[in-house]
Amino acid sequence: MTLQNKYSTMLSRIKEIFAGSHIWRYNLSEVVYEMKSNIPKYDWVGIYLFKDDVLVLETYLGKPTEHTRIPLDKGLCGLAARERTTQILDDVSKDDRYITCDLHVRSEIVVPICTKEKLIGVLDIDSNTKAAFLEADKQFLEEVAAIIAKSHPKISISTL
Ligand code: SME
Repeated sequence: MTLQNKYSTMLSRIKEIFAGSHIWRYNLSEVVYEMKSNIPKYDWVGIYLFKDDVLVLETYLGKPTEHTRIPLDKGLCGLAARERTTQILDDVSKDDRYITCDLHVRSEIVVPICTKEKLIGVLDIDSNTKAAFLEADKQFLEEVAAIIAKSHPKISISTL
């Protein structure tokens, strides 16, 4: 199976997750599981939700992290959320904006989860391989973030 086919199969599966259950926050954990268990280079997969001006770790798989709350002016997560654009670090040791969670991590991608009006959170993935995140990963993860944003229940972020 090519990488494109694999990502396309996973996107279908992720759409099914949201179609099958209306418990949005539960679905986020399923999405994290889907990605962590199918893509070996994704060593840490997590979703932070934007609440009270801070990114709060909602669900993850991988080593526990002490960075469960990240202000928007900190880290690659804060940058992606602030600018609402995907951020990729091919070598985390070369960028002092990166907040270290695990010394084995070599590269990272952070994708904002947002609608036109509102920031919902970020999808954060770490890899123990340098430059692990390719254009195909960026496109795949941006689609995943769009599915998550589109499925967001129409409730106020402050009640999350
Ligand atoms: N490295 C992130 C912090 C979160 S951990 O990777 C889990 C950052 O720089 O924002």
